[in-house]
Amino acid sequence: MNRPKNLIEQILKDQPKQPEQASGSAFAPSNIALCKYWGKRDSILNLPVTSSLSISLGKYGTFTKINSEISLKQDIVFLNGSPCSSETPFFKRLVSFLDLFRNPQDIRFKIETETNLPIAAGLASSASGFAACVKALAELYGWNLTPQILSMFARLGSGSACRSLWHGFVEWEKGEDPNGMDSLGKMLDNTWESLRLGLLILDPQQKNQSSREAMKITTSTSEFYKSWPGLVEKHLAQIKRAIQDQDFQTLGETSEANALAMHALMLSAKPPIVFTQSATIEAWHQVWNLRKQGMNIYFTQDAGPNIKLIFLAEDTEAVLNAFSNVIVVEPFFLGNRND
Ligand code: PMV
Repeated sequence: MNRPKNLIEQILKDQPKQPEQASGSAFAPSNIALCKYWGKRDSILNLPVTSSLSISLGKYGTFTKINSEISLKQDIVFLNGSPCSSETPFFKRLVSFLDLFRNPQDIRFKIETETNLPIAAGLASSASGFAACVKALAELYGWNLTPQILSMFARLGSGSACRSLWHGFVEWEKGEDPNGMDSLGKMLDNTWESLRLGLLILDPQQKNQSSREAMKITTSTSEFYKSWPGLVEKHLAQIKRAIQDQDFQTLGETSEANALAMHALMLSAKPPIVFTQSATIEAWHQVWNLRKQGMNIYFTQDAGPNIKLIFLAEDTEAVLNAFSNVIVVEPFFLGNRND
C-alpha cells in the first residue's frame, strides 16, 4: 500500500484528472528554520515529532516549469539549464515524487528547475524545489486547492518543504492526525522589514549524509532525544513572542541555542553525526567575538557545515566587512529573483 499516493488520490478526487494547460510554472522561496524540525513520528508521511518555525529567503529559492509530454517514454529533467541523468539521486527523488501525482499513470513530464542557491549545501534548496514543483503541478492540472493543502503535498517530498509555500515567517504545525491532514504550514501575519540573514557558504560541496538519514539515527540512538520536544516547545513560544514584540535579542539567542541543541543531539547519536567543520567553528567564534564587541548578531545552522547569520539592516555594512563572501538576504524584499 502506498500511503502517500492513496492520501493524494483522496484529496484530488474532485479535481481535474488531466492537465488543463500545456505547462505550469512557479517560484517558491527557500526557508531557514529558526526553530528546527528534527525527528519524525512517521517517516513515510514525513510527520514531525515537533512543530517548527522558519523565515523564507525572499528572492532566493527555486523556479520550476513542468510540461506534460505525451511523446516521451520517460520524464526528462533539466537542472539549471543542463539535462540531468536519470541515474542521479536528484532525478530519482524528483521523479518518484511526481509519481505520487501522475494522473493518468502513463503521463510523462519535462521538468525544468532552476535554483539560485547551491544544492544540498544545507541551504534548503530541496524545500523550495518540492514547493515549487507542487505549485507548478497545481497550475498544470488546474487544481483548485488552498496553499495549506499544497503545503501538505510538498511535505511528502521533504518535511521542511511545507514551510516554503509562503514568504515570511511560517510555522509548521505538527498536527495530531495519523494521516497528517493537519500537519501543515501556516504563515504568520508578522513582517519584520529590517531583519537580515547572511548566508555563509563555508563548504559548497554536496553533503555526504542526508538530513533524512541523520534525523533517523539521531531519534533512534541519542540518549538526549527525549529532552528535544520539550525544548522545542519552549523555543517556539519564545521565538513567536520575539517576532510579535520585534525583540531581536530573544529571536537571535533562541534561534542560535535551538540550532546548537540540534547539533548537540547529533553529536550524541551512535555513530555521532558531525556536519560541523573547522571553518564552521571558526565562524561561530567570529560571531561570538562580534557579539562581545557589542554587535547584535547570531547564527543558525542546518544539516550541513554552512551557517546563516541573523542580524538587522543597520549592521549590514559591518557584517559585509567581517565576513567575505557572505550573501545578504532581505527576507521581506521580494524583488526580482534574478537580481
Ligand atoms: O526537510 P528535510 O528532510 O530536508 O529536513 C530539514 C532539517 C533541517 O533543515 C535541519 C531543519 C529544518 O527545520 O529545516
